[in-house]
Amino acid sequence: MRRLFPSLAAMPGLSPRALRAAAAGLMLSGAAMGHAGFAHAQSATPVPPHSWSFTGPLGTFDMAAVQRGYVVYDHVCSACHGMTALTYGDLGGMGLTEEQVRRIAHAHQVPAGVDAAGRPAKRPATADDHLRSPYASPAIAAAANNGARPPDQSRLEMVYPGGADRMRALLLGYGQAPPPGTQVPAGSFYNPYAVNGLIAMPPPLHDGGVTYADGTAPTAAQQADDVVTFLTWAAHPHLEERHRTGVRVIVFLLVLLVLTFCLKRRIWSDVH
Ligand code: HEC
Repeated sequence: MRRLFPSLAAMPGLSPRALRAAAAGLMLSGAAMGHAGFAHAQSATPVPPHSWSFTGPLGTFDMAAVQRGYVVYDHVCSACHGMTALTYGDLGGMGLTEEQVRRIAHAHQVPAGVDAAGRPAKRPATADDHLRSPYASPAIAAAANNGARPPDQSRLEMVYPGGADRMRALLLGYGQAPPPGTQVPAGSFYNPYAVNGLIAMPPPLHDGGVTYADGTAPTAAQQADDVVTFLTWAAHPHLEERHRTGVRVIVFLLVLLVLTFCLKRRIWSDVH
């Protein structure tokens, strides 16, 4: 702290303790803002780290995994979770052709007002339609899930404390015996990576739960890796672009450094 804010620490009347309290307050409010709705969501169990292609300053998305992850989202997660910030057209960014996007959109139905008899009508989705929540309202979503609302997944990886690693651990963390004395109420499941070890989401992934067109074996672990990669891609669509820009900026600065150095030598070469 003192090293970071030397001028603050030097101010009379500001004890290190007061500084620490202020810093903790800042961090807490930061966490609360960044993780709206999940401010309390920290599990006691440490999350096993996983190696992802997209982490690190040069990380890139494995687009085959992103595409498989969409299959998992579409066949499993979308039964309860929407991704309303995304349109079907956005899925083109996974490396799909316009025709593939059109076919994916067309396979989904969206509300289209009412028909001549006044009944709610539906039509096939187009590239401009959003990936809707399956529930008509948040209240209906909660009622269908034992009072817990499935969060929208458009930016979930970004706001979820623990990010991709913890999401993967949560998806694969079901089926363990709860510690002695833990009450698991009806409609809840024990999961060491959930808040207080309890979650209202039933275990969503099972070996062979989906079929992959590229022949990858759809084990639960493979599906978890793929769907988390897809959700990370959806939350950070410009990640690769930012990494590329970062590399270009650093190369540019290095070239500038060499040129500046040569210029300095030249200017000072006559001065003895
Ligand atoms: C049967 C409905 C259902 C399905 C299918 C489902 N979920 Fe959920 N999910 C929920 C509910 C309900 C919650 C809220 C749980 C809570 O607050 O206890 C939730 C919460 C979550 C959370 C946040 C957990 C937390 O700590 O609050 C994540 C991450 C998540 N789901 C991921 C997924 C993924 C990925 C899939 C697809 C592989 C999926 N879910 C499929 C119902 C579902």
